[in-house]
Amino acid sequence: MKILAVDTSCDESCVAIVDTETNRLLADVVHSHIDAMAAYGGVVPEIASREHLVGLPLAIDQAIKKSGLSLAEIDWFAVTNRPGLVGALLVGVSYIKALAFAMNKPFSTLNHIEAHLFSPLLATLEGETVPAFPWVALVVSGGHTEMFLVEDFLKYRWLGGTRDDAAGEAFDKIGKLLKLSYPAGPQLDRWVKEKASEADRSAIAFPRAQVSGYEFSFSGLKTAVNEYILKRSPLDEATRVTIAASAQEAIVDALASQLEKATTELGVSQVVITGGVACNSRLRAKIPTAYFPRPRHCTDNAAMVAVLATLYARADRLEPACGSASVEPSLEFC
Ligand code: KG4
Ligand code: ZN
Repeated sequence: MKILAVDTSCDESCVAIVDTETNRLLADVVHSHIDAMAAYGGVVPEIASREHLVGLPLAIDQAIKKSGLSLAEIDWFAVTNRPGLVGALLVGVSYIKALAFAMNKPFSTLNHIEAHLFSPLLATLEGETVPAFPWVALVVSGGHTEMFLVEDFLKYRWLGGTRDDAAGEAFDKIGKLLKLSYPAGPQLDRWVKEKASEADRSAIAFPRAQVSGYEFSFSGLKTAVNEYILKRSPLDEATRVTIAASAQEAIVDALASQLEKATTELGVSQVVITGGVACNSRLRAKIPTAYFPRPRHCTDNAAMVAVLATLYARADRLEPACGSASVEPSLEFC
């Protein structure tokens, strides 16, 4: 079966095509809205929706051309409808609903965070092996920080998530406070790697929130960094670098300590980390035993949605959605 998968949950119009029989990815297109958002220093939801209106049809055309198939050869459509920016999700869901109807083919709605969760399996499409189950898996993206116990394909339990901001949100906002350009999260990582010394990482004792169970919390850190900056402005570059390195360390420490707690308490040694923040070089260095997918598999893409659809198809659980399928902005695990 040939599945065309779409993700428009945030500010990238993503389309991928997979052949479930040969387990080959035939196309993987990511059309980023980075240029449209740069002037605003962050994602503007209304602009993301409008960018998808233009970017999604182009990305579908490009994916179809790359795959060497015709649109009529697509057997099934899959689209993420939760969680994400409501307007952005609506464009993807409405488009796929209409396209599937026009082509007289079924479509399914899938969960974006679940797609991140199984994104490590993308490596198998490139002939590589991935760690055997069980995993303690952490999905760290711009809007979510969620930990799971994954026992098998599609078999997992949500352990806990953030009480307030996601780790990616903390990276983005702290980078913005330090006047880094959009997208500030990856810029902060690069900047610290280039300019900071090892001592900078522990120079400022920013708070590590004490949270219960397997929860996370990053809003206090964001406030602490803001207050530190306000008290000392104007800042020279060396101080800004020190703040960036110390704040990054606080985020990474919080993630690492909750992962360690989960692996110890659950008796599971394999850690898997994915989502955009899994690209962070300090996080990768701090937890060298964890499995991190390739950076392009960690950030938003539709190939992971195609893989998730394939898993559901193989389990005979790929449900066709109906015409009233809609979007759900929040996460349904919690
Ligand atoms: O998974 P993703 O691409 O999109 C969402 O589903 O949100 O994650 C995007 C998030 C953004 O907050 C971005 O700043 C963060 O991942 N990110 C990073 C790095 N690369 C991406 N944060 C820290 N260091 C990085 N290298
Ligand atoms: Zn994502």
